[in-house]
Amino acid sequence: MSDESRQNHWENVYTSKGENQVSWFQETPALSLELIALAGAVPSSGIIDIGGGASRLVDCLVSQGYEDVTVLDLSPAALASARSRMGNRAERVTWIAADVTTWEPSRSYDVWHDRAAFHFLTLAKDQAAYVARLRRALRPGGHAIIGTFAPDGPERCSGLLVSRYDAASLAATLGSGFELIDARRHEHVTPWGAAQKFQFSTFRRERD
Ligand SMILES: C[S@@+](CC[C@H](N)C(=O)[O-])C[C@H]1O[C@@H](n2cnc3c(N)ncnc32)[C@H](O)[C@@H]1O
Repeated sequence: MSDESRQNHWENVYTSKGENQVSWFQETPALSLELIALAGAVPSSGIIDIGGGASRLVDCLVSQGYEDVTVLDLSPAALASARSRMGNRAERVTWIAADVTTWEPSRSYDVWHDRAAFHFLTLAKDQAAYVARLRRALRPGGHAIIGTFAPDGPERCSGLLVSRYDAASLAATLGSGFELIDARRHEHVTPWGAAQKFQFSTFRRERD
């Protein structure tokens, strides 16, 4: 999929569907919040949600007192929806409309969180571009929390093919320099009651 058709796809999703009409909707992203805390995040930690879409994770992080939260997504409509939901509190957040595979990070972060964005990158060149951004943007000693469909999870999401991972295959895809420190299977239930098997893997970026 070209960068342009990828963006068109997601803009179309977020302009045509309500927040809880998408399979990935979560009222409260409890596991993500738990894993971010487990990564040792403190209020001043730099946290970026990659492919955050219109997720309520950012609302919860700001409510919990995190002061340096960034949301990156290639769909401006998704970011606009989250911003309008948050009202004035959106001003405390940095919003980046970009494709993660071509984004040029201008700073580093303590925590990189991604729920269900990386798994849409099915081409090796796009996966490599993502990992290159992860290496540039995550500080040594920082943590990457990546949630993907598990090997027994759905083959598609939002009509698109995905790559499914367990912790070992995700570690192999990231390559050297990332120590796996936590691996969990997770069952997400869609707003219409279907169960989806996820894998959440947390890596510590090794110091050079
Ligand atoms: C299944 S949704 C998950 C959204 C959010 N993480 C959540 O848990 O609610 C996938 C998100 O990834 C974003 N996305 C897909 N490919 C992307 C890319 N190459 N760069 C940035 N965002 C991307 C989409 O716009 C969409 O918001």
